[in-house]
Amino acid sequence: MNIKDTIDKSRLPQHVAIIMDGNGRWAKERGKLRVFGHKNGVAAVRDTVEGAVEIGIKYLTLYAFSTENWNRPKLEVSALMELLVNTINKETKTLMDNGVKLNAIGDLKQLPPKCHKQLHEAMNKTAGNSNSTLTLALSYSARWEITEAARQLANQVQLGLINPGDIDENLFAQHLTMPDIPDPELLIRTSGEQRISNYLLWQLAYSELYFTDKMWPEFRRNDLFEAVYAYQKRERRFGRTSEQLVP
Ligand code: FPP
Repeated sequence: MNIKDTIDKSRLPQHVAIIMDGNGRWAKERGKLRVFGHKNGVAAVRDTVEGAVEIGIKYLTLYAFSTENWNRPKLEVSALMELLVNTINKETKTLMDNGVKLNAIGDLKQLPPKCHKQLHEAMNKTAGNSNSTLTLALSYSARWEITEAARQLANQVQLGLINPGDIDENLFAQHLTMPDIPDPELLIRTSGEQRISNYLLWQLAYSELYFTDKMWPEFRRNDLFEAVYAYQKRERRFGRTSEQLVP
């Protein structure tokens, strides 16, 4: 049976977050430069986005460039930025064809102006799409995001707009980067590494973690379907006991 047919459509994760890892190693194994891996990662992004739409996943969030990635060799950073600009430009049609709205989170003002401009153009163009939302985490780190939220709330206290006692989990979450998107139920990381790497630390509090040895350039929609199938086999207790979950 096709893996897609084993998925229970009534119990899909609404939001899947992915750490796309292994581009560099995949390229190195083939005697190529790291950038070759990133370029080949684009096909994986396209197929995964289409696969997510195909089975009805509403939100997909991809870790495309972390705050820490700025410390990579200059040449790799500039090649990645150029690849992002070109990919966003070329793939806007794929997003339109699939009814996908593009969103971005992170310290976007750090991006080169060309990248920033391309991103905003694609976000404006796809703003009316409603099948699914693709969020790119760019110049993003969860500690940056949480610190920003704390700073915004501290400012509001200083201005007398709120009292410290008003700050609870809900208010805090509203100051994070995806206030209107549900937390991911499923996190996928490729390449065999088993770390969170400063990604969505707040939002992943109760997510199911799924690690695969596949390198990102080889990841395809069937791998996404396998991860969703594995997720559906898990029991999500949110701190309760199994017995309490029986309806
Ligand atoms: C991690 O592999 C991957 C990245 C830092 C970049 C991901 C970018 C793309 C797939 C390009 C296009 C993306 C979009 C969303 C338009 P790594 O370099 O850390 O690999 P390694 O762990 O093997 O060194």
